Amino acid sequence: MAKQEDDFRKVISHAKEYGYVVQSSEIYDGLSAVYDYTQNGAELKKNIREYWWKAMVQMNDNIVGIDAAIFMHPTTWKASGHIDAFNDPLIDNKDSKKRYRADVLVEDHVAKIETKINKEVAKAAKRFGDSFDKEQFLNTNPRVLGYLEKSQTILKRLGRSLENEDLADVKALIEELEIACPLSGSRNWTDVKQFNLMFGTKIGASADTAMDLYLRPETAQGIFVNFLNVQKSGRLKIPFGIAQIGKAFRNEIVARQFIFRMREFEQMEMQFFIKPGTQKEWYQKWKETRLKWHLSLGMGEENYRFHDHEKLAHYADAAADIEFKFPFGFKELEGIHSRTDFDLGSHEKYSGKKLQYFDPEINENYVPYVVETSIGLDRMFLAVFSNSLQEEELDNGTSRTVLRIPAVLAPTKAAVLPLVKKDGLPEIAHQIIDDLKFDFNVIYDEKDAVGRRYRRQDAAGTPYCITVDHQTLEDKTVTIRHRDTMEQQRVLIQELSTIISQEVDMKYWLKKI
Ligand code: GAP
Repeated sequence: MAKQEDDFRKVISHAKEYGYVVQSSEIYDGLSAVYDYTQNGAELKKNIREYWWKAMVQMNDNIVGIDAAIFMHPTTWKASGHIDAFNDPLIDNKDSKKRYRADVLVEDHVAKIETKINKEVAKAAKRFGDSFDKEQFLNTNPRVLGYLEKSQTILKRLGRSLENEDLADVKALIEELEIACPLSGSRNWTDVKQFNLMFGTKIGASADTAMDLYLRPETAQGIFVNFLNVQKSGRLKIPFGIAQIGKAFRNEIVARQFIFRMREFEQMEMQFFIKPGTQKEWYQKWKETRLKWHLSLGMGEENYRFHDHEKLAHYADAAADIEFKFPFGFKELEGIHSRTDFDLGSHEKYSGKKLQYFDPEINENYVPYVVETSIGLDRMFLAVFSNSLQEEELDNGTSRTVLRIPAVLAPTKAAVLPLVKKDGLPEIAHQIIDDLKFDFNVIYDEKDAVGRRYRRQDAAGTPYCITVDHQTLEDKTVTIRHRDTMEQQRVLIQELSTIISQEVDMKYWLKKI
């Protein structure tokens, strides 16, 4: 645990030091769970956004993108169920006065049981060596089976109690499991209460005419209320999708873990409208497609897993998370939800407007079903950033910090470094930048010895360093050094653009999906 915390602290301080993320309004001591993206962070975020948008909208001729307003008519949130059901079950510890999400306390307890299972596996693997069969061990070892049953029983009961709004049973479960407050160590808990996560605000000038509004807690509703506008104006035929990227706001209570859980964040969502009855196959298809998108970035297959939900949101008939191995363990990165006709059906009821599709193949009108994919842009940023930050031991006994951001997403693609600040080398470096900058984000760096400049760019995540030296004056060649391998090649200046684009052009990455 201490190592995990230490690794995570390094991620947070590296993000600040290298111009990626800082606390919002830091000079006023910050605002809890709100963050600002600084120069490199803004670029990385923009690249992730573009990678998602291209894969979703540009590459699919039956998916279009929109940009709906953050403010929506307040009835939207009545229809969507957020006013009545977008709650977190909270519990306070009377001694530490600290507030927790009751379900998270239970899930953390289950995570500890899972850690025990992993320890048993590691012990057995050591004992049996090469002949160790993990699958068989997990299916037969009595202690492991006991742990598995225990965690499943707990999660099932939690899911059932939350679904039935039986908050007394959630408290009873916390007490039976003897869960203590991590801060005070005491088990002196209040009752569990529901707390709505939407931020309220007002529109209008005077107090009597002002209308109560909410900051949208998800971007999806902007898609649902525009379903017919987009379908009709685009003459779209089912199955088709509408995608959107935008800000969402939630008054999160357990707002820890840096940009993992924020109060203001960005979502990348896509609603796929389908014929009722086909939701199972589309749900499966989108689970697979989205996993492929993640894997295309090469951040390690072993760092992803699916988690199928026991407890379903008020709108879903099936739901799964793609979980990623963050520095603090496997956690939700993206959700794939089979939302049935809940949203469109409900907006029909509340608005009195028909939100139906005429299917020419069966000559019938129906309210389409929806499969949704929803990923937090900030969470994706954290996945990329934390996975990329590595301390590497080198052959010569030294070490380096390297930020191996997939080159396609890296904020700066190349740094151009004149070996010395004289003899016409800076001028050539600037000429190279003037040529490359039409296609790539490139920077100039002349401060310090070249070795230190390499280290600085490694830590900032720049995939290429281009060094201009005295030989450049004679034969128009430069060295190009690769961040990940540290290998250097002597190449002609005119080849640079092709070499860089082979690694950073989205086209090559998107082809893997
Ligand atoms: N429209 C469905 C929806 O909003 P969700 O599971 O509540 O579903 C989808 O959110 C994704 O949005 C999550 O998988 C996560 O990546 C991101 N997300 C949710 N709450 C967040 C928060 N407070 N901070 C950052 N990202 C968040």
